[in-house]
Amino acid sequence: MKSFKINTEIYFDQNSLDYLKTLNNLNVFIVIDSFMVSNGTLDSITELISSQNIKVFSDILPDPDISMVTKGIDSIKDFKPDVVLAIGGGSVIDATKAIIHFGKSILNLDNVKFISIPTTSGTGSEVTSFSVITDADKGIKYPLVSDELLPDIAILDPNLTKTVPKHITADTGLDVLTHAIEAYVSTKANDFTDALAIKSILLVFEYLQKCYENGQDLKAREKMHNASCMAGMAFNSASLGINHSIAHILGGKYHIPHGRANGILLPYIIEFNANVKDYKSEVSEAAKRYSEIAIYLGSNSKNVRSNVKYLINKIVSLQKTLNMPKNLKETKIDLSNFEDLKFEMAEIALNDKCTLTNPIKPTKEDIVKILDRVKE
Ligand SMILES: NC(=O)c1ccc[n+]([C@@H]2O[C@H](COP(=O)([O-])OP(=O)(O)OC[C@H]3O[C@@H](n4cnc5c(N)ncnc54)[C@H](O)[C@@H]3O)[C@@H](O)[C@H]2O)c1
Ligand SMILES: [Zn+2]
Repeated sequence: MKSFKINTEIYFDQNSLDYLKTLNNLNVFIVIDSFMVSNGTLDSITELISSQNIKVFSDILPDPDISMVTKGIDSIKDFKPDVVLAIGGGSVIDATKAIIHFGKSILNLDNVKFISIPTTSGTGSEVTSFSVITDADKGIKYPLVSDELLPDIAILDPNLTKTVPKHITADTGLDVLTHAIEAYVSTKANDFTDALAIKSILLVFEYLQKCYENGQDLKAREKMHNASCMAGMAFNSASLGINHSIAHILGGKYHIPHGRANGILLPYIIEFNANVKDYKSEVSEAAKRYSEIAIYLGSNSKNVRSNVKYLINKIVSLQKTLNMPKNLKETKIDLSNFEDLKFEMAEIALNDKCTLTNPIKPTKEDIVKILDRVKE
């Protein structure tokens, strides 16, 4: 029996933060990163809830690790919150999920209302039961997956994303695209997730470049914020694939921003999954799914192989307009230990939870080959 549910109540548009004015006489624990404190976002939000008793925890860095979660649990311990507010990108929202999740067993957090306010249009974490936490010693990112991690409320105010710099707009936007495409071709895709994924893909192709060129374009920011959330809803139900499995380990070992790693991998993963260069065999189901996306994006062809190429070309030209690196070498990271690490990375990617729903079951050798190509 299949099911589809959305647990999180969503408020969206430029006035959506007004929801916070409905909070009354409560203890509010805020998780945020130091940049969002220094750029005034914290003040603008605490102004809306000035009558509440507020405590702020701002020790979150990108790709949160276990020590940040432990610090957060220490900070929340004696506060007895009624509401936990996560204000930030995926890193802040994921860390907050982990603080609530691991804190629950030692603290009384059962009746806490969890409100997530994303400030990047990227992870969709505001509506997902995923939280990605890094084990800094091992250099591995672990996706925790549990319905208990789902926020009760998500507030999508595009004004909060106007300050996102160009390169982070590009990285996070390609994360949205990867979520939607992986959800669409996932083995758990269904009519409900398809609808969300396709709408999200269309919005990315229409509005990401606009956000990149003019960060103050509020309509484009709003559309990307909605696209991010819709892709989150799609993959929360359909899950993801090896694009994310490999991005997780590349992020863990080389600290490549999550969206950038996904963006670099995307054309290579589509080529691998679709396998349309093998003219001897019939086109796969995965190739047909990518072809459907190409048709939604405007391809007039009925030929699956050429539609897969059309989709890859669309992605590559979008990446060019966003000045994104095409491969790992172009990111200028130090790859001197790559050859030593690639087999271990392939093994870890193979065992990542996202691999389970990839449309093609890869071998370790397949992933090594993909890593070799992505390095270039
Ligand atoms: N939970 C999920 O479902 C899910 C899905 C995909 C990725 N992730 C995880 O989320 C993390 C990445 O999140 P992200 O891509 O949103 O980036 P991020 O949260 O790491 O933020 C990146 C940078 O952008 C800055 N920033 C955030 N909002 C800003 C704003 N409005 N203006 C200016 N700067 C701003 C932050 O301070 C930070 O320096 C990774 O750890 C990734 O693995 C989680
Ligand atoms: Zn992602």
